[in-house]
Amino acid sequence: MSIIIAIANQKGGVGKTTTAVNLAAALALKKKRTLLVDLDPQANTTLTFFPIEEISYSVYDALADHQVNLTEIIKPTSWANLCVVPSKIALAKLEATLVGQFDGPYRLKDALAACREDYDFIVIDCPPALGIITVNALVAATHLLVPIQAAYYAMEGTDDLLETLSRIRARPNPDLQLLGVVLTLYDKRTNLARDIQQQVRRVFGAKVFRTLIGKNVRLEESPAYKETIFTYAPDSSGAADYQNLAREVLQRV
Ligand SMILES: Nc1ncnc2c1ncn2[C@@H]1O[C@H](COP(=O)(O)OP(=O)(O)OP(=O)(O)O)[C@@H](O)[C@H]1O
Ligand SMILES: [Mg+2]
Repeated sequence: MSIIIAIANQKGGVGKTTTAVNLAAALALKKKRTLLVDLDPQANTTLTFFPIEEISYSVYDALADHQVNLTEIIKPTSWANLCVVPSKIALAKLEATLVGQFDGPYRLKDALAACREDYDFIVIDCPPALGIITVNALVAATHLLVPIQAAYYAMEGTDDLLETLSRIRARPNPDLQLLGVVLTLYDKRTNLARDIQQQVRRVFGAKVFRTLIGKNVRLEESPAYKETIFTYAPDSSGAADYQNLAREVLQRV
């Protein structure tokens, strides 16, 4: 049984993509067969691995109609055990395409059915919104992982996300579990970060991962060189943080 982890938070720029890419890479390094699904029209995850010219079909084609199988658009990366389902700006049309379709929220779940047994982990990078794309991820997922940026207004929007989680659990996906909350962009030198950590731990308790993802410029640089943190800067604090997060994820699932 594969574990399907949706990385979601409708707040923008909180570290969803950085977490999806580097958690998936860390799991692949641990010899877990890993599929990284880019479900964001911004395609930041995709562009971490491939130049845009290399993307012909994208996840939109597999979700919008049944002409293209998801298995046909999976792209292997240069790293062992790590494949990617690429995205493109076309995915922004999905909302409109799925209006009135009775199976709209189930498209990703159905598309993954053909390949989910080929992977130990499927990691889904969601866009910063709670629309039909994120709903597709939550319906397909076994687990939700929420990155929260350790900054002012950190918890803004988490109520809406949790309400969406409970609505998805009530009907289409009762087995969906909150895997955990991870604090990102954490600056341990500041009192603010420490206060936010306390506040997040008060609300989410044991669901908050012990691992804190610190601010690390190497994490910001690596996508520009088409690398994950583990090849770009294997000795960086960012690499250590994502190794630790992967270890905790493996303990929890
Ligand atoms: N731990 C970190 N240290 C330093 N920079 C980081 C860290 N995590 C993320 N960043 C940078 O912060 C910015 C936002 O991160 P990221 O793209 O992962 O967020 P996101 O939640 O996916 O954003 P969006 O909502 O737009 O999809 C990026 O420039 C990224 O490189
Ligand atoms: Mg992103």
